[in-house]
This record gives sequence, structure tokens and C-alpha cells, in this order.
Amino acid sequence: MCGIFGYIGERNDAGKVVVEGLKNLEYRGYDSWGVAWKSNGIVSVRKDVGKISDVRSEDFSDICSLAIAHTRWATHGGVTKINAHPHTSCDQTVAVIHNGIVENYEELRRELTAKGHRFVSQTDTEIIPHLIEEELKTTKDFAAAVRATCLRIRGRFAIVAIHTHSAMLVAARNGSPLIVGVKRGGGEVSAPGRIEGYFIASDIPAFLDQTRIVQYLDDGEMLVSDGKSILFSDIQTGEERPKREIEIQWTQQQAEKGDFEHYMMKEIMEQKESVARAVNQDDAQIMTLAKAIREAQGTFLVGCGTASKACLAAEYFFSVIADKHVNVAPASEFKLYHHFLKPESLIVVVSQSGETADVLEAMRVAKSAGSKVIAIVNNEGSTIAREADYALRINAGPERAVASTKALTGQLAVLLLIAYALAGKLREGKTLLLETSSAINDMLNPRYIERLKALADKIQTKRDIFIIGKSWNYPMALESAIKIQEVSYIHAEGFAGGELKHGPIALIEEGTPCIALIGKDEVEQDSLSNAIELKARGGFIIGISPDRYDAFDEWIRVPDATAAQAIVNIIPIQVLAYFLAVARGKNPDMPRNLAKSVTVK
Ligand code: G6P
Repeated sequence: MCGIFGYIGERNDAGKVVVEGLKNLEYRGYDSWGVAWKSNGIVSVRKDVGKISDVRSEDFSDICSLAIAHTRWATHGGVTKINAHPHTSCDQTVAVIHNGIVENYEELRRELTAKGHRFVSQTDTEIIPHLIEEELKTTKDFAAAVRATCLRIRGRFAIVAIHTHSAMLVAARNGSPLIVGVKRGGGEVSAPGRIEGYFIASDIPAFLDQTRIVQYLDDGEMLVSDGKSILFSDIQTGEERPKREIEIQWTQQQAEKGDFEHYMMKEIMEQKESVARAVNQDDAQIMTLAKAIREAQGTFLVGCGTASKACLAAEYFFSVIADKHVNVAPASEFKLYHHFLKPESLIVVVSQSGETADVLEAMRVAKSAGSKVIAIVNNEGSTIAREADYALRINAGPERAVASTKALTGQLAVLLLIAYALAGKLREGKTLLLETSSAINDMLNPRYIERLKALADKIQTKRDIFIIGKSWNYPMALESAIKIQEVSYIHAEGFAGGELKHGPIALIEEGTPCIALIGKDEVEQDSLSNAIELKARGGFIIGISPDRYDAFDEWIRVPDATAAQAIVNIIPIQVLAYFLAVARGKNPDMPRNLAKSVTVK
């Protein structure tokens, strides 16, 4: 949801630096892009519609040591060159990039228009440079003007601003992520060297090839840097906020595509190891969380999109394995649950990015009721991880494709482990998951992948695809639909197998692809009956299961993973969705209208 990247430091090719870095944030938005840089005391701006990956960084060759860049995912105003960021003031001296929404922009726009400001775009963002320009009429201090502006805008934001008459880069945050990468001569935190520069970005991959030392800007804070030092402060009070430097573990190689054509396939294949990494948790910590769930008076599992399907699967894990009932809600609905929350309640939020606005809001609703919050996240140091009472990492490594794959199986693995711990069988759970991990390794062989590609080629022209499952395969049917919809744009729907005969079966025609997710469990026969009902109406049955049945027109074999079946059953669907997208000429890494991290409500 918009990528922000800024650089200030010793290098004199800042324009090139930010364009290169921004390419690593393209997954956050790919409608349009823009760059502003300062050279010879002048702020210049270049922007356009299209993808930053198509822009040549060599074309930004002005000598400069201060630049900001933005990749947009449109919210206010259509996808046009004028609406692309950076936006500037009337006199073109202030340039701003922004992620978020200025909720009171209409009111501010009226006020500024009355004062003579002229707006050229349809965006809410354009308000910001004009407000700064207005403040600069009464102060010469650029940072003070940005501070005053932040106090006037309502809503979630992350902004970075530069000014013709200031040598500073100024950034502020309230609700949308901003992380500082610290470039030191010596490299590591343990042997700090001279500061060579700072990167300011919405996410870590933007500067991972430059540094792994980070500082987190928190909500309600701003920063000012001249490239040699950086000062963090409270936006409201101006009080200084000292920050620690943290060395993160991700490597640049993890964040790169390598030999794969798309991140999505790279990340699917990484599940050969990532499930085992998710299981690599400290036993004592898992036991503490299990105890918290056991003792809570009401546990709520909350997430968005794919993560919310992990929560739904966990409802079955807890019930079947640990005999424990938990409540599940999409984060966007959770606000309405506040009636049920009390200090003894426990909220488990699941989020890959750790930045999703609806999840953050759900967390804050829970905290204001005095409830405890546990976060299961991938992005270390994310806002959700930092604001939770307790955070557990799934260790999947950077996930760049918009369609979440390895993060989901990592979330499922951690939730399953907690369910086993809750049942007093942590060791059994670990063993099962490690065996499952090695079964995934065997499963994802070249022949298997080819088989799924051939199946995708066969059904890629179909209008609809239906997916059914029972028990934990039901949330996986819902997730399968998301995967297929978001990358291939084929209409796909997931159902609980038993619900078909209450309506959806009317949609089945001769040859309609119907995928049945089945495991060797207590609902195996019922699931099979549901598949047979579909076949009787002409459905083309694709069975994903350890065993083959006559009802299947195509059988995609998966290992028998007992309680971890949801993890192995979703993987062939991810591969199938990938190849459906490719067969239809779509880029699976950049699905239309979607963003990797949704930091607005
Ligand atoms: C977006 C992404 C999804 C993701 C969801 C929740 O919609 O496109 O892939 O599942 O956000 O994201 P989170 O980072 O909170 O898991």
C-alpha cells in the first residue's frame, strides 16, 4: 500500500539509490512512481504512470545526496501522472511523499484554496506540501513546519519531505510504517563505524542490500536527518526520543528472486524449508502461550485475508487437538466484538507484514479493553510485533509476492504447534511438523510442478472454479479461492463441502472444475461424498488427497500429514494458482488492485 523510500548521506547519486531501492518495494504499489531530488539547491521532480521496475536508475544521474521516491497504490484520485507522488507546494520548493489517508483533506483544501493555494491533483496528499508551505510563512525551520503540518492532518500517515532551503530530510509517522536503515562505515552494530547515510523506507527490503542496521520510528514520532546524524522526536511535544540500533537477521539474498521468474514461485518453493523454520521455536515460549490460552476467559483469533484463513484453520486445530474452543473474527469486523472483551480475554493476532491497518485497530480495541495481545508475525520489528504483549515469529523470511504462500504455512505450523502444546503434546506436534516439512520437500519435485502446470493449462480457460473441504480443509478451500482469484482473475469460490447442496451446487455445469481437499481423517468419507455429488452434476473433479478415489478425474497426490493436512493440501493449490496466472498471461507477483501490505482501513 504505497512504497516510500528516501536517502540522505555521503553518496552523490541519491536519485539512483532511491530508484534502485524503490524497485524492492514495488510489491507495495505499482500504479505509478515518482522521485524528487535536491541538487544545486533546487528540488526536481520526475514521476509517471507505470511500474518502477521499468525505470532506469541510470537516468537519475544528477549529483545529489538527498532524494525521495514513491511507488503508488491509488486510494484518493485515479492513476494519473499528476496524482503520482511526490507532490509539491505552489512554489515547487517543498516535495512530499505519503502513505496513508488525510481524512480531513476536504476541509484543509478549502482553507488553503481560500488562502490562494492552487491544487493540481485529485489526491489528499497534495494538501501536505501546501500546508508545509503555509507554515513556512511563519517559520524558517523546515522541521518545525512539517511538525505543525502533522498536527493539522487527521488519519494514518507516513510522510517524507524535502525542501529547497533546507539540508534536512524530515519524516513523520502516524499509523503507516517507516523504518530507518543506518549505513555505517564499519557495518555491524557491534562495531559501529562512522555514519555514511540513512535510508528511510516503508519496509526493510528497500535497503537490505545496503545495511541490516535499523531504527524503528513509532507512531506519533518524527525524524530529522542531515545525513550525518538523525534526531527522533515526539510530534506533539517535540521531546527527543532516543532510539536503539537493531541488527536484523534477514539477508539480501533471501529477499531476491534468484533464478525464479516470479517471487510467488520462489516463495512457494521455499516452503521446503520454511515450515521447519516456523517450528523452530523455543519450547518454553510456546508453553507460556498455550498456558495463556488455557487460562484466558475467551480467546479470539484475528487476521486479514490469508492470515484470517490461518485463524479459521486454528479454530479446528484447537478444537480437534486440544479440545479448546476459540473465537475467530476477520480483523475488519473485530471492532464490533468489544462488548465481549474484558481484561481476562486474550487476542491472538496473525499477520505476515505486522502492519495491516485493520489488525492494528483490532489490537488497539483489545488493549483498550485491558485484554492481552499475542502476535504471530513474520516481519520482525513490525508495529504489530512491537505493540503486542508478546510476539512469536514464523521465521518465513521476507515474503514479497502479493499472494501470501510461505507465510500462511508458517502461520499454520505455529498455530498447530500451540494447539499441541495446549494438549500437553508439544513434542508430538514438533515431530509431526518436522515430518511434514520433509514430506513437502519431497512433494515439490520438478515432476510434481510440471503436473500442476499441465493441469493449469487444461483448466485455464474455465470461467469458474469451485473448491470444497471439511474441517481444517474448509478454511483451506476458502484460501484456495483467494489464491486463484487474486493471481489468475478466474472466478473461484470455496465452500464447506456439506454446504454445497444448499445452493452453490446449482452453479455446477458439465466440466466445471471442482477441487476437493481431502485428508485421511474423520471427515474423509463425507468429503468424498461431497465430491461425488459434484461429479453427478457434471463437475470435473480434481482431488487433492493422500488416497486416490474413482470419483476423481484428476488426482494430485499429497502426503498423509494427519493433523497437518491443511499445510500440505494448500501447497499444490498455490502452484496451480501460479500457473493459472502465467497461462493467462498475468504477472502473479503484481495482481491488479491489490497490495502486499494494506496499511489503510
Ligand atoms: C493483503 C495481502 C494478503 C494478506 C493480507 C493480510 O490483502 O494481499 O496476501 O493475507 O493483506 O496481510 P498481513 O500482512 O496482515 O498478513
